[in-house]
Amino acid sequence: DQVIRKQMRDAHRVVADLYHEVLMKTEAGEVGLTYLQARGLEESTIGQYKIGYAPDHRRFTVESLERRGFDLEVMVEAGLISKSRAGEYFDRFEGRVVFPIADRDGTIVGFSGRAIDERQPKYVNTADTPLFNKSELLFGFSQARATMRKQKRVVLVEGNVDVLQVAQAGTKEVVASLGTAFSTQHARALARMVEEVIICYDGDTAGQEATMKVVRLLEGYPLDVQVLMLPEKTDPDDYIRTNGAEQWQRLVESERLSVLDFMNRTLRRGKNMSREGERIRFIESMLVEISKTDNSIRRDLYVKKLADEFEIPVETLLSRMPSTGPKEV
Ligand code: CTP
Ligand code: MN
Ligand code: MN
Ligand code: MN
Ligand code: MN
Repeated sequence: DQVIRKQMRDAHRVVADLYHEVLMKTEAGEVGLTYLQARGLEESTIGQYKIGYAPDHRRFTVESLERRGFDLEVMVEAGLISKSRAGEYFDRFEGRVVFPIADRDGTIVGFSGRAIDERQPKYVNTADTPLFNKSELLFGFSQARATMRKQKRVVLVEGNVDVLQVAQAGTKEVVASLGTAFSTQHARALARMVEEVIICYDGDTAGQEATMKVVRLLEGYPLDVQVLMLPEKTDPDDYIRTNGAEQWQRLVESERLSVLDFMNRTLRRGKNMSREGERIRFIESMLVEISKTDNSIRRDLYVKKLADEFEIPVETLLSRMPSTGPKEV
């Protein structure tokens, strides 16, 4: 088992080096490099994250691994290649730009491959394997680690390209949950390292809903959780490419919302607050959200703030708050 895991890790390192070399040094990789450059990514960023390109060839990885003596059955189990029903081995990430995903020590354990043409799906990711557990890994963690420790904070984004752009714009303490699947393990890992978590998910409904889920997973820890809301239909990558690094820095340093202000902003949307009925419904919906807060100190702080904002006695709000019994986990 240990032998097999070591073989899997070795193979990931070999394949990541190969893909990176293809991207940087070969004609086959030019489409990938052109794609990344068109997305505003610099060679130093590409190098730091060891981005690569998997040639658009059905057996490039299979043959490269075979030539180096790796057991192809183990390689299938590691998620590096696939096997057809007919028993034929073939590549998984062919024709894609590949982002190596490393564990906290920087050991590569999986890949995320992005299509650069019309092929579907847009992203192919390593499925869970003996090395790769999606709910424990964060893209960019090993690169962000030193700065996270020093700054005592982390910026959490959705996508790999978001990580690259944010880091390139000078915020090195950035990681992505692979997709929007932030987990309790992720929360625990971050809470151990930082005091402040800045959530900067995409500016769409999915991003906002995912933000609230992350908030719920983090609020049990004594962390300062803040939300950076981006304009509609914008993700950090879009934002930085449109507005530049300086504007991004200004946003990160001065536009962060507390969780309460984030709830306020989201629930207020579309309501006419000068109408009493809508105002009451808004306050009630705030109380519903606040009641779900899994930390009684935090919950009381929020109620107090809401009371101040609308000049309503705290007791009145408390009397209207849904019961705050134990929550399902
Ligand atoms: N994702 C995925 N499979 C998909 C779509 C998304 O695994 N079909 C994951 C990827 O990790 C992706 C993240 O979810 O980075 C966020 O999704 P999305 O916002 O749609 O992608 P972007 O990161 O914005 O990708 P890009 O900018 O390259 O289009
Ligand atoms: Mn998204
Ligand atoms: Mn996005
Ligand atoms: Mn994007
Ligand atoms: Mn996009």
